[in-house]
This record gives sequence, C-alpha cells and structure tokens, in this order.
Amino acid sequence: MKLLSFPVVTLIFLLLPILPSIIGDLNSDRQALLDFASAVPHIRKLNWNSNVSVCHSWVGIACNDDGTRVIAIHLPGVGLFGPIPANTIGKLDALRVLSLRSNFLDGRLPSDIPSIPSLQSLYLQHNNFSGEIPTSLSANLNMLDLSFNSFTGNISTAIKNLPRLTALSLQFNSFSGSIPDLNLPRLKQLNLSYNMLNGSIPSSLQKFPISSFTGNSLLCGPPLTDCSMSSPSPSPIYLPSPTTVPGKQNAGDNKKLGVGAIVAIAIGGSSILFLLVLAIFFCCLKKKNSDGTSVLKGKAANGGRSEKPEDFGSGVQEAEKNKLVFYEGCAYNFDLEDLLRASAEVLGKGSYGTAYKAVLDESVMVVVKRLREVGVGKREFEQQMEVLGRLGQHPNIVPLRAYYYSKDEKLLVCDNYPMGSLSALLHGNRGTGRTLDWDSRVKISLGTAKGIAHIHSEGGVKFTHGNIKSSNILLTQELDGCISDFGLATITNFSGPNSRGPGYRAPEVIETRKSTHKSDVYSFGVLLLEMLTGKAPIKSLGHDDVVDLPRWVRSVVREEWTAEVFDPELTRYPNIEEEMVQMLQIALACVSKAPDMRPSMSDVVRMIEEIRQLEVYTRPSSEDSKSKDSNVQTP
Ligand SMILES: *[C@@H]1O[C@H](CO)[C@@H](O)[C@H](O)[C@H]1NC(C)=O
Ligand SMILES: *[C@@H]1O[C@H](CO)[C@@H](O)[C@H](O)[C@H]1NC(C)=O
Ligand SMILES: *[C@@H]1O[C@H](CO)[C@@H](O)[C@H](O)[C@H]1NC(C)=O
Ligand SMILES: *[C@@H]1O[C@H](CO)[C@@H](O)[C@H](O)[C@H]1NC(C)=O
Ligand SMILES: *[C@@H]1O[C@H](CO)[C@@H](O)[C@H](O)[C@H]1NC(C)=O
Repeated sequence: MKLLSFPVVTLIFLLLPILPSIIGDLNSDRQALLDFASAVPHIRKLNWNSNVSVCHSWVGIACNDDGTRVIAIHLPGVGLFGPIPANTIGKLDALRVLSLRSNFLDGRLPSDIPSIPSLQSLYLQHNNFSGEIPTSLSANLNMLDLSFNSFTGNISTAIKNLPRLTALSLQFNSFSGSIPDLNLPRLKQLNLSYNMLNGSIPSSLQKFPISSFTGNSLLCGPPLTDCSMSSPSPSPIYLPSPTTVPGKQNAGDNKKLGVGAIVAIAIGGSSILFLLVLAIFFCCLKKKNSDGTSVLKGKAANGGRSEKPEDFGSGVQEAEKNKLVFYEGCAYNFDLEDLLRASAEVLGKGSYGTAYKAVLDESVMVVVKRLREVGVGKREFEQQMEVLGRLGQHPNIVPLRAYYYSKDEKLLVCDNYPMGSLSALLHGNRGTGRTLDWDSRVKISLGTAKGIAHIHSEGGVKFTHGNIKSSNILLTQELDGCISDFGLATITNFSGPNSRGPGYRAPEVIETRKSTHKSDVYSFGVLLLEMLTGKAPIKSLGHDDVVDLPRWVRSVVREEWTAEVFDPELTRYPNIEEEMVQMLQIALACVSKAPDMRPSMSDVVRMIEEIRQLEVYTRPSSEDSKSKDSNVQTP
C-alpha cells in the first residue's frame, strides 16, 4: 500500500489545474438553487429556506468540507415537473454530483448543466427529457445516466471526449443513427438498449454484452448477429462474474490492478492459513468428543482445574456451583449445573475469550462466553456487569442474561442469534445464494449505529465499546443489527488484536491503546466501508494483514467519485448509487484521521436516517425490478 500511494499523489497534482477555479461562492450557489426551486414546480415541499444553512439544513444538498460551495444535489423522486430553465442549476459551478432521477422533468436539458466543468456524475434517468444531448459536456464526467427519457438525435460524438467516463446508460430513449466509435479506456458499463440505433457496433464496444445493445432492431455486428456480409469473427463475450476480484476487471489500469492483486493475495494467503487452522481445530475437537460424553460434562464431573482449555466449565469450583447470576427479567430457567451439562460447540475465539453455543434442551440455546485474562476482582467485575446489564436494554444491543464469577472462571451468558454475524453474511460462503442486499445493509448499519450511540449516551464519556467489528454485529430474524461484546476492555487485560494491520483501530488507538467515543466512531466507519466494499478489514487469522480499508477507499475515491469501490454484488440493485455515495461520505467522515473531525455517533445515526428517508419516497423503479429479481424473498 505504501508504494501505491505515490502514483495517487502524483495524479492529484496532475489533476489540480483541471479543477475549477473558485469563482463562485456559497451565496451565488444559494441563489441559483432558490431560482431553480421557484422555477420548477415540485410536489414534495423542499425546506430550502434562506434563513437556514444551505450546507447543513437544505434537503438534498451537500457542500464541500469547508462549507464554501455546493458540490452535490440529490433530489430523486421529489415530484419535480416541467422543464429546467437555463441559468439555474447550470450556475452552480462547483457541482460534482447532480441527481434528479425519477421525477417528471421534461423539455430539453439546458446545455449549461452537463457542461459544468466540475461535474462528475449526472443522474437524470426516469424523467421525460427530450431533444438532443447538449454537445458540450464536462470532461470530468464519469457517470452519465440519461436512461428512460425521450432523448432523440444521434448519440453525440461529444461523448468521445470524456476520458474519465466509466458508466454510460442511455437505454430506453429514442436515439437514432449509428453508434460513434467511443474509444473510452475507462468505460466499464454501457447500456444503449431500446433505442432506434442502426448500423454496426464499433469494434471498441464489441466487448460489451448483448444486453448492452438489445432492442435496437437495426443494429448488427458482434456481439449481436453479424451484419449481412461481414466477417464471421467470433464475438468476444464479456462475462462479469460476481466473484471476480475487483483488480481483475481493471486490467490495463496499473494502479488499481496493483491494489486488487494485493487484496487478492492477502485473501488467498490468509484463507489457506485459516483452512489449515480450521483443520487442526476440528481434529482436536473430534478427539475430545470421542469418549462419548459432551465436552462440558466431562469437565464438570472433574470439577477441577483447566487441563483442557476448550471447556468453559473447567474452572468452576464445586462449592460455587449455583452462583450463576441472572439479570432481572431474564426468562431463562436453568442453573450452572444445567449449563455445564449442556452440549457445547465452539462458536469462535474472540478478543476476550472463547464463545460457545450451549444447547440446554431442544428449545433453549444460549451463548456462553468464557473470558480470559480478567484483570479485576469480583466486586469490580460485578459492578461492570451491572452497568452492562443496564446498557443492554436497547433493541440494537445484545443483552447479557447471566454471568458467573469465580477465581478461575468468568462466564457471560447471552442469547443465541441463529442468523449469525454481519461478518459471516458479508464474507461467508456466497455460493449458497445467501447475499445481502442494499436495504438490509443500510438497515443493519443503522441499527448498529443506534446501538453504539446508546452505549455512548447512557454509559457516559468514559464508557466505550472498544471492539467494534463486523463479527460483533449479530443479526436478528428481521435482519436488524445488534452490537455485542462491549464494555469488556476495562475488565480484561486485553490489549487489542495482535495483528499488525490497522483493521478497525483508529490511528490514535494503535499508539495509545485507549479507546474513546471517537475511536468507536472510527471503527464504525471502517465497518461501513466494509459493508460498502464487501472487503474485510481483518483477514481471519493473518498476522501480516495489509488491508487498510480507509486508505484504500480514499485512494480510489480521491481520484474520482467512482463506482469501483463498491461491492460488485451491489451493482445488481438499481438506483442506489447516490445512497451508496452518501453512505460512503458518512463512512469517510467517520474515519477522519483527526478524532475531532469525526462526527459523534448520534450525528451518524441522524445522517444514516436521512438516507433512509430519501429511500422511502424514491426509487420508484426499484420496486418493480425488485419484485422481478428477488422472487426468492416474496412472502
Ligand atoms: C426567516 O426567519 C424570520 C424570523 O426568524 C421569519 O419571520 C421569516 O418568515 C423567515 N423566512 C422564511 C422565508 O421562512
Ligand atoms: C414525454 O414527452 C413527449 C414530448 O416530448 C410527449 O409526447 C410524451 O407524452 C411525454 N411522455 C410522458 C409520459 O409524459
Ligand atoms: C447524425 O449523424 C450523421 C452522421 O453519422 C449525420 O449525417 C446526421 O446529420 C446526424 N444527425 C443529426 C440529427 O445530428
Ligand atoms: C441509420 O438511420 C439514419 C436515420 O436515422 C439514416 O439516415 C441512416 O442512413 C441509417 N444508416 C444505416 C446504416 O442504416
Ligand atoms: C440495459 O438495460 C436493459 C433495460 O433496463 C436491461 O434489461 C439490461 O440488462 C441492461 N444491460 C446492461 C448490460 O446493463
């Protein structure tokens, strides 16, 4: 990663002169937006009030970091109708992202909008714009989505001059004529389907799949049927596979190939290691069970010291055996004896010890955590348990049900979550078709954020979670996220994961080893990046982890707001780009290097809720396509 940052830095310097000179200011941006709002009727009310801050309160508006310019407008599905007059949005000369998709806008697209020099992403799909595409387009465009409109005329050759373009969606319009030879090195997604195009497909675009061109009856040549007399060369069909390592899709782009390859090597290397350890582990387990008794039972009868560390009952003293302390309101009815007799299965080794799943009888299953290296006395332990019990009363926190303390053994009992953890769902075996769609990811992130915010607000400034990671986010049946394993750092001698990679740890924690609310926010930011990219910040057991997720994402994003950072699996869902970009912005704010720059956890909850609100009344088309796609989940 270190070596790779060099070209990124050089790139930024090369790009600096292209960036728009700062000529406008926030006042002119505000005026342009007000002009737009007054000229374009809208069904849903916009709270664009000149009394309040444009950057912080106006719906759908985002500013640059220092709040001096408007850089993004997201107004999908707010019921805008009629034409957009020139000299409104076109005057926002620092704008990078414009999304007005899924409205009822019509008429010609004013030429001053797509030519805003800073513009990088333009989402106008699902409107009824007509006329031709303006010929002057921003050279910084990397996403152009004009699909599902009534555009006519030729596909402008101006598109040839967009070296940074990665996605071009023009399907369902009335474009005619032949397709210009768009030799765009970065183009990854192309959709020209359902237009009135004719002639042959230029060779530079023949690598795209058939579905990029269908619905144009007069179009011919590979990958479609051959034009009557042309040479029968085999059509190179491009098959994007969901399991492709991101780097592979970017052949020809040295920088990203490098990052991708490193990630791939890291994944490959650590999974071999993991399999090896797994194999050894199962061998041991088998040996242990071969005497026919359950692991725990054998130990409890023994009643003695821990010769076999795999057993959570080994340190329990005979005399102390009924001192399992239940929390108030806990519905469980068993005692330590039952627990020790239960058959147990190792769930995993966490930072604070080993977790077991104990089956008490057919209907009762609990998780028992055996803490290691508890560094406090009984009294302090009990005090902390009381705090944890109180904080656990929140729908997004895994509640503790009981605990046990003796000199040699410290146990925690909590509910079993059969849906497993976020980590398992994101990185587990995807082959089974068990995938995590965007809505679920947002829901889990929001739930988790609420849980952490609750811990921060109820626990006080000194109380932190201290160990936020995807394997500690457990999922309810409704796929809501619940946070577990909190508040244990203070009572154990745990000094952070021993891997050298940064993983979820904030830079200051790597040095001081002290977690704070702001370092929890950092860890949560890494979690969001993990959810967005589908990449794990910690490889299962590797001690030479090289994945610094925030750094990798920043290096890609700094170059351009690009779709390439996102989990390839998410590309299957329509109309979620801006939500993903907004979530990415939240994540990047959380992983700011300086703790003071990070938002508080309650701010994060609010920001994610805003994305959710957008989602409730937008994405009209996603509903149609969803019911088509996910017939699996329809009730
Ligand atoms: C701005 O605030 C003042 C009082 O604070 C209020 O009277 C006025 O109506 C507000 N303007 C708008 C456009 O809401
Ligand atoms: C879209 O605009 C065209 C004219 O440009 C009009 O004929 C058509 O009826 C409009 N479609 C809708 C759905 O409003
Ligand atoms: C479309 O392009 C063709 C050449 O490819 C040109 O002859 C024609 O005039 C263009 N039509 C329009 C409407 O721009
Ligand atoms: C394609 O259609 C245009 C009109 O839209 C026509 O002028 C042109 O001759 C057609 N080209 C071919 C190759 O059919
Ligand atoms: C192009 O758009 C059509 C219609 O929305 C869709 O069926 C097709 O899968 C898309 N093709 C690609 C390559 O995205």
